[in-house]
Amino acid sequence: MNILVTGGAGFIGSHTLVELYAAGHTAVVVDNLCNSSAESLRRVAKIVNVSEIPFVKGDIRDRDTLNALFSEYTFDACIHFAGLKAVSESVVKPWEYYDNNMSGTLTLLDVMRQHGCKNIIFSSSATVYGDPAVIPITEKCPKGQCSNPYGWTKSMLEQVMMDMQRADNEWNVVLLRYFNPIGAHPSGTIGEDPNGIPNNLMPYITQVAVGKRPELGVFGNDYDTPDGTGVRDYIHVVDLARGHVAALRKVEQGSGLSIYNLGTGRGYSVLDVVHAFEKATGVKVPYSIKPRRLGDIATCYSNPQKAHDELGWTAQYDIEDMCRDSWRWQSQNPDGYRK
Ligand code: NAD
Ligand code: WQD
Repeated sequence: MNILVTGGAGFIGSHTLVELYAAGHTAVVVDNLCNSSAESLRRVAKIVNVSEIPFVKGDIRDRDTLNALFSEYTFDACIHFAGLKAVSESVVKPWEYYDNNMSGTLTLLDVMRQHGCKNIIFSSSATVYGDPAVIPITEKCPKGQCSNPYGWTKSMLEQVMMDMQRADNEWNVVLLRYFNPIGAHPSGTIGEDPNGIPNNLMPYITQVAVGKRPELGVFGNDYDTPDGTGVRDYIHVVDLARGHVAALRKVEQGSGLSIYNLGTGRGYSVLDVVHAFEKATGVKVPYSIKPRRLGDIATCYSNPQKAHDELGWTAQYDIEDMCRDSWRWQSQNPDGYRK
């Protein structure tokens, strides 16, 4: 299939491109590079052994850019990663988040239907469950109150796509609710490259390990969890990427609306991750306990059975693989894609 990949220069998009090409698909990327670098695409091309990944630098809010793309290429489906994703930034810049994520996706969906491409895989998030009513979280778990505008954009966009699919059953919509993606391609040439101080745990750990930051702050050790620190379902980004290839097979069958959790089904605490990292890499990660972070929940992990049953997809990599691969990327590229 020929796939339009929005946000393909980013962390998950770049890894998904590798798996798409490995599965025999081709792709065209549209990305405005607001949180990424075109260098990631050059490195993807090297990994998959093609001269280049077709790329248009542009914003998905720009209808003309999208129309030009759909006029030039025929797409069988779109994998839609493009969006802003920093939770704390979304609290101080709500309009920017609603504009980018909502307007961008609404424009994309409109241009897609006008060009007769009605297959979409959307990057959603476990954040739509809010403080989950049941653990492990199945897709039947009711959606919850999001604690930030970023989360609301995911929750509302899910609703938009569900309603559009209900009104027009030519649409095939797959909503993938990612848990906590970490790790990097085993080559160590592509990975997560956050701007400024990392918000997320693993990039913070790797920056401490590489000597860029003195210590990790552990946000709270008084949660109702085995060691008091927050528990999450970390998933290797390569496994996550392969989940998209599996979802494409579903779309090809004319699946209508489908929703899947993409996680491992295992929860690890912050201190479990620190210890797994130290074990996998031999590098010490100094840390100190800090107050809880606003909006955090104690425990969040998936039941990934539905993706296993319906997509034939299961995560293969364990926490040590994730730590080892995150570290390989960070230690080989201490400044990310900026050289
Ligand atoms: P990322 O920031 O690395 O990738 C997003 C890409 O989208 C970037 O390359 C950015 O430049 C591009 N982009 C943003 N707005 C755009 C616009 N208006 N037009 C064109 N390009 C635009 O983030 P990621 O971690 O790869 O996340 C990909 C998707 O998955 C996002 O939608 C994110 O919300 C979602 N998601 C991420 C996580 C996570 O923890 N990383 C978890 C759940 C869901
Ligand atoms: C994991 C654990 C922190 C940093 C976020 C978004 C979610 C999704 C994934 C996009 C928590 C603790 C963290 C640090 C710490 N993104 N921590 N020190 O919060 O589960 O999910 O990213 O959709 O929407 O909310 O991930 O990596 O930030 O935190 O102790 O410096 O690590 O408190 O328990 P989170 P995270």
